[in-house]
Amino acid sequence: MTTLSIGSTAALSLRADVLVIGTVKGEDGAVLAAGAESVAAAFDGRLTDTLSALDATGAEGELHRVPTFGAAKAPLVLVVGLGEQPADGFTHDALRRAGGNVARALAGVKKAGVALPLAGAEAIGAFGEGVLLGAYSFETYREKSREGRKDAVKDVVLLGVKGRDKAAKAAVERAAITAQSVNQARDLVNTPPNDLNPKDFAAIAVDTGKNAGFKVEVLDDKALAKGGFGGILGVGQGSASKPRLVRLGYTHPKAKRTIALVGKGITYDSGGISLKPAGANETMKMDMGGAAAVLGAVAAVARLGLEVNVTGWLALAENMPSGTATRPGDVLRMYGGRTVEVLNTDAEGRLVLADAITRACEESPQMLIDVATLTGAMMVALGNDMYGIMSNDDTFRGAVHDAATRAGEPAWPMPLPTELRKSMDSPIADIKNMGSRMGGGLVAGLFLQEFVAEGVSWAHLDIAGPAFHEGEAGGYRPKGGTGVAVRSLLQVAQDIADNRI
Ligand code: BES
Ligand code: MN
Ligand code: ZN
Repeated sequence: MTTLSIGSTAALSLRADVLVIGTVKGEDGAVLAAGAESVAAAFDGRLTDTLSALDATGAEGELHRVPTFGAAKAPLVLVVGLGEQPADGFTHDALRRAGGNVARALAGVKKAGVALPLAGAEAIGAFGEGVLLGAYSFETYREKSREGRKDAVKDVVLLGVKGRDKAAKAAVERAAITAQSVNQARDLVNTPPNDLNPKDFAAIAVDTGKNAGFKVEVLDDKALAKGGFGGILGVGQGSASKPRLVRLGYTHPKAKRTIALVGKGITYDSGGISLKPAGANETMKMDMGGAAAVLGAVAAVARLGLEVNVTGWLALAENMPSGTATRPGDVLRMYGGRTVEVLNTDAEGRLVLADAITRACEESPQMLIDVATLTGAMMVALGNDMYGIMSNDDTFRGAVHDAATRAGEPAWPMPLPTELRKSMDSPIADIKNMGSRMGGGLVAGLFLQEFVAEGVSWAHLDIAGPAFHEGEAGGYRPKGGTGVAVRSLLQVAQDIADNRI
């Protein structure tokens, strides 16, 4: 685990293994960024010469290591490219990415001091968040292959900040809490499905509740049967691991409003009897990314003690084909009594979510957000870096989008065209779980909307694209589970607490 702190020690006298300074793009090559002045002075002009001999450009993510030969207490300077210097300062996300790039470059290092242009608590928080998120890598299953791999950097000290700067301290604390939640969500997504079934996930939620200070109630398959949760049970009935519905509850004594967060938690999505073809199922352990984000967000809200009430709902099931599995053609009786004709058992997310949304609405929250790796169609529409936001309330959708943007999570508003609803008309039941293939992500959203109680402002986040990163790590995004939506949900909760929403 990486720890982050702030310090007022001068860069040159810090006892550390590495000093981090920045460069920006200049007309002919890299130019030292603010914060590097004292280091540059100690090098007596030779630092810029060295960087130009190394052909440094200052491009974002560029890395150079320069020995200090005694010019500073630290033996090594790490020079990180920050890219183009904007006139009005670096964006928070640019600072987050810089933090991530620095953290990965510091792997194996015990202590590093950072002398970068971090003006103000928010910049410090964003860079710090990037460091803690970028330092992440999933090592749980390495045994022999662990050899030669470097540990994450241990201590990162952000220099040039007064120890008594309360706002900076709070920003670092918030960054640590946020990163802890995002990294837990990543761990959950990365954990293979043979080690994370619905029961395992529920047990982790119970532990997290104890540690972070919120209530956790678990409905097991018996309780689900008693309550009539036909959607969750129908999806889970093909698996030897039985489904669960978990309720997380955080309340603040002064809070006036409640938001419900509902997460799709399919611990493995084989497609069921409508089996996915080889090639489409290798990454389907990620299909609980929505539930992981909800758990992480509630934990962060509780640790930060935000003035808002939050309920979290984890709809946990494993979607497997077997002699007991739901068949295409079956009709499920959902929680609340509605009937759904299941025509494709691979459209399972909407079934577990429908039950959880209905249940969440019974407690009359003012707002509800569901998060789900729901459709391949949303990936086709928006690519792998962006999630789609659908809503029954334009103002709320705008507020969620704005919160996501400020949190540094790219998202885009998507419509819910009512004309698509009739494509889900069933000849025998209230609705089918499938409709038009064209606009499939929106069809899924329209299905969910049916289960949202009147008067509840609802948003649906389809995170199928950004939940899992198959490419290489870059910035603060690792390979594998990304923990996407934790920061958006946390920002929404913060905005409610601040009466901004
Ligand atoms: N979990 C998948 C969606 C998904 C696909 C997430 C790829 C991440 C990456 C979901 O359960 C699913 O299978 N959706 C189907 C719905 C269809 C059968 C209506 C899809 O998108 O193909
Ligand atoms: Mn599926
Ligand atoms: Zn799925």
